[in-house]
Amino acid sequence: MKIFLDTANLESIKKFNDMGLLDGITTNPSLMSKEGGDPKSAMKEITKIIKGDVSLEVVSTDFSGMIEEGKRLREFGSNVVVKVPMTPDGLKACKSLSSEGIPVNVTLVFSSNQALLAAKSGAKYVSPFIGRLDDIGQDGMNLIREIKEIFSNYDFGTQILVASVRHPMHVVDAAKIGADVVTLPPGVLDKMLGHPLTTIGLDNFLNDWEKLKSSNPDSKI
Ligand code: G3P
Repeated sequence: MKIFLDTANLESIKKFNDMGLLDGITTNPSLMSKEGGDPKSAMKEITKIIKGDVSLEVVSTDFSGMIEEGKRLREFGSNVVVKVPMTPDGLKACKSLSSEGIPVNVTLVFSSNQALLAAKSGAKYVSPFIGRLDDIGQDGMNLIREIKEIFSNYDFGTQILVASVRHPMHVVDAAKIGADVVTLPPGVLDKMLGHPLTTIGLDNFLNDWEKLKSSNPDSKI
């Protein structure tokens, strides 16, 4: 399963990229707005730091606006994936950009039928938002299960990109289902890294080493 980071925060992107954890990045207008500053320079910088796919989202809602923005975004780097909303114009833009060889991520997907239509339009990625479904009392992970089952019956080539991930158990469940990608807020990736027994174990190792060192002051490793 590929891991993308769901952020426009350059510090977090560099931090996790240096650990070799990142296969790509997803952004959206809210994430760009959260960071402030000049969005265009941030977008360019992200495409330079990350070798893998970087989803940058259009803000037009009409077909021709999405095409113009999508092409401009794509100039930021050959790894740019144009993110379009799951709307009739979004799917038309998906078909058009995909047929020109520009990869598309269809976002704001909340049903398996929407995912099916995005795949039919030629999307490289389909982004179901599981956390937002959980928020309204629906089972977000069940949507991933359904899409996985539907896609496995056919040969779309569209990857399931699990979005709106809220906690580490979402990641475990998505991996068990066999989702292609999860996109994680930095906080979730931080939580996945840590375990109290790792911290306790390391403290014990270091304390024991100090005891040994006190009787062997000249020994170093
Ligand atoms: O990238 C879009 C998606 O991950 C948004 O998540 O937490 O705003 O529902 P959230």
